[in-house]
Amino acid sequence: MNIDWNTLRFSYTETDYIVRCAFHGHRQKDGTLEGQWEAPYATRDKILPMHVCATALQYGQEAFEGLKVFRGVDGQIRVFRWQANAERMARSAEGLYMAVVPMDVWEKAVRIAIESNLNFLPPYETGATLYLRPLLIGTTPKLGVGPGWDFEFVIIPSPIGPYYPKLNANRLPCQTFIVNRHVDRAAAYGTGQFKVGGNYAASFRGTETAHQQGYDCLFLDSRYHRYIDECSAANFIGIRDNEYLTPRSSAILPSITNDSLMTLAKEQGLKVTRRHIRLSEIATMQEAAACGTACVISPIDKVIDPDKHVTYTLPQAPGPVLMGLRTALQDIQYGRTEDKHHWCTIIN
Ligand SMILES: Cc1ncc(COP(=O)(O)O)c(C=O)c1O
Repeated sequence: MNIDWNTLRFSYTETDYIVRCAFHGHRQKDGTLEGQWEAPYATRDKILPMHVCATALQYGQEAFEGLKVFRGVDGQIRVFRWQANAERMARSAEGLYMAVVPMDVWEKAVRIAIESNLNFLPPYETGATLYLRPLLIGTTPKLGVGPGWDFEFVIIPSPIGPYYPKLNANRLPCQTFIVNRHVDRAAAYGTGQFKVGGNYAASFRGTETAHQQGYDCLFLDSRYHRYIDECSAANFIGIRDNEYLTPRSSAILPSITNDSLMTLAKEQGLKVTRRHIRLSEIATMQEAAACGTACVISPIDKVIDPDKHVTYTLPQAPGPVLMGLRTALQDIQYGRTEDKHHWCTIIN
């Protein structure tokens, strides 16, 4: 193993072990799922043998998560808000009629994933982290349409590079987003609120078209195409005067980064508002950004609306409020400041 931490990007680097754990169950006549989780274990084998009719393959019965493990300034290993990811995966599992992975199984699996791959935990100075990708898939062989009763929970670790390598946080490059009213990521009251693979496959028409034009895709609400939903695979944040604005929508993923930033924003005296946000309101904002585990906060300089022949330009990109919040969050993740909210779990 010889990894150049400084050249890592957000892509897969194979580690020694993944963690696996199976659920074997059955459904009662009323559809209720019953069964048992095995104990999680580490394995070097990265191939999952499964039946060709597995419900994950046939009907997309799968969910995933993404969280980061940090080597702090004090050398300690910190996992950021793993319980929040476990709770979100539980909601995804319930949404897709899958078995919920219990908290104790999640915790054990996270610890095994880290402890069996310590050589892959990037050093503090590099800005790289160990990313954990939990995955829950339906393995029951089934051709008739409907949910299965056997599942596999896997954690795939991978060291990943900083989103912005070797850049000063105050000089982050900005992203330009383009609106596409001809592709929706998720329907109102559909599965957009869950982290399930189908949402991502459904978004590719929008994201890949935007990339070909040199931009990223801003998804609007699918009913009216009037309100902001999400920035590709990240939540939207806007700053207007002393207010932190972020969309309320039944179709967006509740971001753990956004939730953390909202808490920090309130502590810094900002008013935090979560509501429907019209696209045209961007014209009244000083700053805007996409936020998520991978990028933390990624400033937005422009939003292009080709149908209306309008380009919204953010006057401060990157701006001081969002960059301050970014630093505040990263200081907690790297152990540079007190973790008042107990967001980090230290792995000894
Ligand atoms: C669609 C979507 N929205 C938002 C986010 C940001 O969520 P989080 O901050 O929990 O990473 C992600 C990434 O997980 C995502 O895939």
